[in-house]
Amino acid sequence: PKRVGVLTSGGDCPGLNAVIRGVVKSATRFGYEVVGFRRGYEGLVDPVDYMMLDRKNTLGIINQGGTILGSTNKGRFSARKGVDQRVELPKELIQEVKSTFRVLNIEGLICIGGDGSLAVAEQFEEHGLPVIGVPKTIDNDLSSTAFSFGFDSAVACATDAIDRLYTTAISHERVMVVEVMGRHAGWIALHAGIAGGAGVILIPEIPWNFENVCQKILERDRENKRFSVIVVAEGAHLPEGGLVAGTSSGNAQARLGGIGDIVSHELEHRLNREVRCVILGHLQRGGPPTNFDRCLATMYGAHALRLLIQKKFGMMVSYQPPMIRAVPIKEAVGKLAQVTLDNSGVEAARALGISFGDIDS
Ligand code: F6P
Repeated sequence: PKRVGVLTSGGDCPGLNAVIRGVVKSATRFGYEVVGFRRGYEGLVDPVDYMMLDRKNTLGIINQGGTILGSTNKGRFSARKGVDQRVELPKELIQEVKSTFRVLNIEGLICIGGDGSLAVAEQFEEHGLPVIGVPKTIDNDLSSTAFSFGFDSAVACATDAIDRLYTTAISHERVMVVEVMGRHAGWIALHAGIAGGAGVILIPEIPWNFENVCQKILERDRENKRFSVIVVAEGAHLPEGGLVAGTSSGNAQARLGGIGDIVSHELEHRLNREVRCVILGHLQRGGPPTNFDRCLATMYGAHALRLLIQKKFGMMVSYQPPMIRAVPIKEAVGKLAQVTLDNSGVEAARALGISFGDIDS
């Protein structure tokens, strides 16, 4: 039988199952069997670990979070150190993968993953393995695609949290700091901040300082809005020498944990009032995908299968609204898509008086 392989790699996110289902449903219609490898690329090598996927065992999973195939962002397949340093996969590992393809008669492999996982797919392709990429990350920091699935669901989760924190902030006239995900990019913070009506948004792309943040909070006080919600991306950088709350930034990071804690501790000290911090963490990666992510993931799955049938290997599906198109994996990986200062979201936020903690706010 004609066979296609599929795997989910890297950190999980809502919509992975919807892609798997999209692949399986269309593959079945085109007469393909689908081999689902478990735990990302790990399932391809000793001990080879897979399950046959069919309409029955993928029924009703479009709205399920996580991935029925499991995933990992650890293990033997690492093609990247940090954001841009390439690491060669060992030759023996590639040989093992080739042998798995041969033994299981895999015509092509659909790799669903973020930048690190797609960098592995890129090396597979260079070694002559037939792969198709599907971009995934809640952070939305992949280039060559307008949106990766999972992002909308993460923003929905963060927005819901901000809505809830907003009302308790009002009741207690408090400052609430919400730390959202986004290791290298502020997309989640920006979108959830706008959607949730935050007063301040702090992101890695815009240098900020505490004086400006305090100023914004005090300005709100004067306008009789004696509460503030501050959204901070986990990857936001602390201002150089900006802490006066009695500890150096390095130590504070170690002692208090994430940036959200540090910001809230510092603001409490500077403003001499109650500040609370909530770190949303992996909540943003769990639960059912939004309708947007279900559709995007399904379109990705169906399009990836079509590319595979057309033998357009080495390509990645990409959302270029309103179309799904194919771009070379090579061109898509290793390029961080950060928020730019001329982004319409940033522009709109500024127009509304949301502060980024910088001089332009
Ligand atoms: O890359 C997506 C992401 O959600 C980041 O925002 C976050 O820093 C990271 O994954 C956490 O990954 P994990 O806890 O699974 O190692």
